[in-house]
Amino acid sequence: MCGIVGYVASENISDKARDVIIEGLARLEYRGYDSAGIALVEDSSIYCQKKEGRLDNLRSIISSHSSSARAGIGHTRWATHGGPTDENAHPHVSFDKRVALVHNGIIENYKDLANELAQKNILSLSETDSEVAVHHLALELEKDNDLFEAMRRLACKLEGSFTLVAIDSHNDGEIVAARRNSPLVVGIGEGAYYLGSDVAAFVGETRKALELGQDTVVRITPTDVDVVKFDGSKTQGTPFEVDWDLDAAGKGNFDTFMDKEIHEEPAAVRKTLTSRVDSANRLVLDELRIDESLLREVNRIIVVACGTASYAGHVAKYALEQWCRIPVEVELAHEFRYRECIVNEKTLVVAISQSGETMDTLMAIRHARENSSKVLAIVNTYGSTIARESDAVLYTHAGPEVAVASTKAFVAQITACYILGLYLAQVRECVSSETITNTLEELNKMPGRIEDVLACEDAVRSLARSMADVQSVLFLGRHVGFPVALEGALKLKELAYIHAEGFAAGELKHGPIALVEEDMPIFVIVPPVSEDVIHSKVISNVQEVRARGARVIAVAEENDLAVGNFVDEEYIVRVPSGVHALMMPLVTVIPLQIFACELARVKGYDVDKPRNLAKSVTVE
Ligand code: AGP
Repeated sequence: MCGIVGYVASENISDKARDVIIEGLARLEYRGYDSAGIALVEDSSIYCQKKEGRLDNLRSIISSHSSSARAGIGHTRWATHGGPTDENAHPHVSFDKRVALVHNGIIENYKDLANELAQKNILSLSETDSEVAVHHLALELEKDNDLFEAMRRLACKLEGSFTLVAIDSHNDGEIVAARRNSPLVVGIGEGAYYLGSDVAAFVGETRKALELGQDTVVRITPTDVDVVKFDGSKTQGTPFEVDWDLDAAGKGNFDTFMDKEIHEEPAAVRKTLTSRVDSANRLVLDELRIDESLLREVNRIIVVACGTASYAGHVAKYALEQWCRIPVEVELAHEFRYRECIVNEKTLVVAISQSGETMDTLMAIRHARENSSKVLAIVNTYGSTIARESDAVLYTHAGPEVAVASTKAFVAQITACYILGLYLAQVRECVSSETITNTLEELNKMPGRIEDVLACEDAVRSLARSMADVQSVLFLGRHVGFPVALEGALKLKELAYIHAEGFAAGELKHGPIALVEEDMPIFVIVPPVSEDVIHSKVISNVQEVRARGARVIAVAEENDLAVGNFVDEEYIVRVPSGVHALMMPLVTVIPLQIFACELARVKGYDVDKPRNLAKSVTVE
């Protein structure tokens, strides 16, 4: 939540700082889009502009302002304290106009800090928790004129989570920042350094980056970087090279990021599967840092995640239990965190996160580790906090996901969970090597199968357009189709703003069937014909809702003739036949994503930036 950019260069090329910051904000806008602002050091003073609404509102003001600044900061906001107004937008400028600051996170003791300021007659102009930080920073700066040291002292006073980035009008040769429980990375350029909530902020300028540890303060100059811990002791960032470029972070020929990312799903699965086996056909997960002997001892797995990532975990539960014979629970990270969980050193906690920055998931990880569990993270973003704070990491290689609604991350997460499941099964010797090899072969076919589903995209889109006026949609599934139903409903809620609910089809008669009324659209995720028991149960469920007037839209295999007896062919979305039952979610979810995307578009909504949401949920 909230995107932050910082830039300092040795030369003050006309408009360069302004443009780099605005471009960085554009690439971070998915993190929050309630308001945007920029502050530049110009002629020993702060030039600051901020505007409620999308970045374009700020652009229209700032484009006519020619700037010779070589240092500046920018912010795109997801509102927490105070509504999305110009006053509450960042940057905030200190009472003496010397310092400007941007903030991501929540300052929990801001009231106490505001009271201290009030005693000095320093009053906030905004309703934010962030503004107190800039005034306190200015007071600290008065003491010794050292912005780096002032930021360190300020960081020690704050409670909560924060990334703070500040500029000093008296010195345009540096930018300082502090981070606790909130993301920040450094970009290393030629004669310029950058700060960003993530590397997208500066990937157009440089791919060399530096990860920063927890509770650190950083100073960037045009040619160098210094990092200290909050206690003042020297430390360093960890260098890394960003393995994707500006094209990966752009829309390409697609109208929206979501369209592009749906089309990248075959590649997301393929890349996540790449280089996982050795010459003897054994799975090797080099990046894991957990000893195999510990994995043999595991007697329980708890998956912690939020939203779409948690549904990937629900899918994985079926495979992990089947292959590893270990009980698996899936918990929403925010629920797991605040209960007396029963975990120990034999519990493996698997945390799933695309961003690697979701605060709820991060807190659950810390909670699990405090209770002696090992944590294995399945993460898409290299160098993210969750990756750093876990005992082991298995990266999904989906590439940057920009649209707020998660698509390619979901299929990559399922793929990574399956690799993990097969690896555990191999280590624990609970399935034969032949089964592992055959299952991997099935997984390797999945990118092609997803491409086959994408070829039917137009039919799903026209179905969505024909249903532009629906008020409520239900989704039903069994077995791995159940979490797919939940994910289909989530996509529709977040993108098209209509009531949608996913149910286990077997649960229907226990209550939800009362919702069914004439012509209500119900998506049914039909299991493969080969799973005859659950397949026939789902066909019965189709008949039950049809008998009550529902309009069934079935997602079913090409060779599923039974479904055609009860659903008109125009309402059947066909997926390839012969897909391994556990891998069906990788194909059945695709039409649901396309449907939600198209329904949102036809309703005139912003597909990439749905209202009230942000991509990376970095507050609890
Ligand atoms: C889904 O479309 C959402 N973007 C959301 O549910 C998301 O999956 C959730 O917030 C978890 O995010 P993460 O994977 O970055 O941790």
